Amino acid sequence: MNQKKRHLVTAALIYANGPIHIGHLAGCYIPSDLYVRFLRSKGEDVKFISGTDEHGVPITIKARDEKKSPQEVVDYYYNLINDSFNEFGISFDIFSRTSKKIHHKTSSDFFLNLYDKKTFKEITSSQYYDEKENQFLSDRYIIGKCPTCDNENAYGDQCESCGKTLSPMDLKNPKSTLSGNTPVLKETKNWFLPMDKLQTNIEKYINTKKDWKSNVIGQCKSWLNDGLKPRAMTRDLDWGVKVPVKGAEGKVLYVWFDAPIGYITATKELDPDNWEKYWKDEESSLVHFIGKDNIVFHTIIFPMMLMEHGDYILPENVPANEFMNLEGEKISTSRNWAVWLHEYLKDFPNMQDELRYCLITNLPENKDSDFSWKDFQQKNNNELVAILGNYVNRVFVLCENFFNKKVPKISSVEIDKQIFSELENIKEKIESSIRAYKFREAMSYVIDVARLGNKYLTDTEPWKIFKDDPDRVKAIIHNSIQIVANISILCEPFLPFTSKKIKSHLNISDLSWDSVGSNIMPTDHIISGKAHIFSKIEDQLIEDQIKKLKLSNENNNVMPQKNTIEFDDFTKVDIRVGTVIEAENVPKSDKLLKLKVDTGLDQRTILSGISKYYSPDDILNKKVMVLINLKPRKMMGFESQGMLLLADDSDGNLSLMQPDSDISDGSIVA
Ligand code: 2FM
Ligand code: ZN
Repeated sequence: MNQKKRHLVTAALIYANGPIHIGHLAGCYIPSDLYVRFLRSKGEDVKFISGTDEHGVPITIKARDEKKSPQEVVDYYYNLINDSFNEFGISFDIFSRTSKKIHHKTSSDFFLNLYDKKTFKEITSSQYYDEKENQFLSDRYIIGKCPTCDNENAYGDQCESCGKTLSPMDLKNPKSTLSGNTPVLKETKNWFLPMDKLQTNIEKYINTKKDWKSNVIGQCKSWLNDGLKPRAMTRDLDWGVKVPVKGAEGKVLYVWFDAPIGYITATKELDPDNWEKYWKDEESSLVHFIGKDNIVFHTIIFPMMLMEHGDYILPENVPANEFMNLEGEKISTSRNWAVWLHEYLKDFPNMQDELRYCLITNLPENKDSDFSWKDFQQKNNNELVAILGNYVNRVFVLCENFFNKKVPKISSVEIDKQIFSELENIKEKIESSIRAYKFREAMSYVIDVARLGNKYLTDTEPWKIFKDDPDRVKAIIHNSIQIVANISILCEPFLPFTSKKIKSHLNISDLSWDSVGSNIMPTDHIISGKAHIFSKIEDQLIEDQIKKLKLSNENNNVMPQKNTIEFDDFTKVDIRVGTVIEAENVPKSDKLLKLKVDTGLDQRTILSGISKYYSPDDILNKKVMVLINLKPRKMMGFESQGMLLLADDSDGNLSLMQPDSDISDGSIVA
């Protein structure tokens, strides 16, 4: 349990190379926002820090792809991300950026502090280098085969298929992602954090963390069991925070060195006079909300940096979430398989809480979870509308009909004490679930309050007894209004827009968490009539979203159009109709078939990489289209004198191009 004097809560500094999607929200931004809103409502001293991570290879690769400068890329995405977080109601105290001057100074000073203490090991080693691009290849600039799972496209820092953290030297058959070339080795000097030497200290620290989530401890233990290795904290790149020591020209800090220091910078920026007490006083609790791919950096590497520095407190907890999938498949930016926040906000205006609710009830707290549009609709229609919205509206309507919107004077409250003691119970359960980072569970208790209120109305049936016992009805409605007011407080961390709506219908201002009880709303206070809080989502809206998702995913798989060419360029190409007259497998090749093709002009040998799709028998005697004036090429010891035309989808499926009538060999294709 986390009951310190003040709290510093951080949410991962997201790379400014793309928009926010629901996976990011469920991973860390909703849980952190919910946690902070709760602490604020408790009146606790809390600062909520986040921003964009604007350095590192993910940014420079995006800039290269988009033919922009890295600064242009981060400026664009910072604004897009910041705007969508604002509209969605994520209540950061500051959303900063690591490209700011103040951050360059803070992270550079931090590096110097460790440098002066001789923490770093200076190591000159051979690193992969792309001779064509004149660049060292670290992190995502290099791909190759993963040594653990054989994925052919593992990155130099991580295999996205098995999750293993890698360094470029681990990759088999490495290739530069810049030029596609095989890199050479070249010597360079870098500054390493001796994680091997610091392992014992970090182990002691992690062993004190009995309340960390099991998925987080699991990852820590796996790293520690493998044995930590020194890790370079500098890179040969030109985008980032310059390494502030002599002999380091052309080098920048490793993005994972500077990014977490961004939390410190942002706190400084937010509160220049008091920031230190949040970072340096043992009475402060530092909690990092992140997704599972960031665990090692927040539980091992950053704490090591903080320990070595010596002036700072260490993270109290790192409640990392697993991943959220979408319609049963991994969210993928490159395949456009995602629900983008800025698009959701356009397609579902003023429906922030509907998405928040669906994500909270599905948070990947212990294992990966799934978002589906149908589930979103069901949760909205069957839970928000049917339970919460319906209850609140029922109470407003009853108060309007019986008491002209005035909170009735209480008379016989004795018999209903039970309901408020149940409410108090639920409040405590919500509180301890939030403090234990069990937000799904906490959310379900909030809905239980509406269930409790609904049941109270159904059991007491005020509409039936109004004539015979008006005093009793006064008490029931009075109590029901109190329950609705309690809901507006208890749901605020979870559904802030809804809380605001209910409060505005009740004509009350913000109330703190501890005002929960039987006596919030004064007698004779005027409330509004009908309170329409949630609306049903119709099938059409959901079908449109599913269609949109599938469509953008399909379009994304289509290769973009190549550069325009002149007609003259096209006329240089000589394509003819031919017939395959011989076909055989090429020994030791799992791709190639060796064909003899009658082109009408001659009979020639052509090698074609289609054996996965066509056997020699399939293709024998088939009409084909052949590019005949392609310079001959040697493959597997044979000379290929042309090329068959094939259609190739982006998943690597091939289909043979054929004329659709029995036209004679040698006919020109144009
Ligand atoms: O995964 C990411 O998007 C990283 N940019 C998170 C960095 S968190 C922190 F260290 F700043
Ligand atoms: Zn792998």
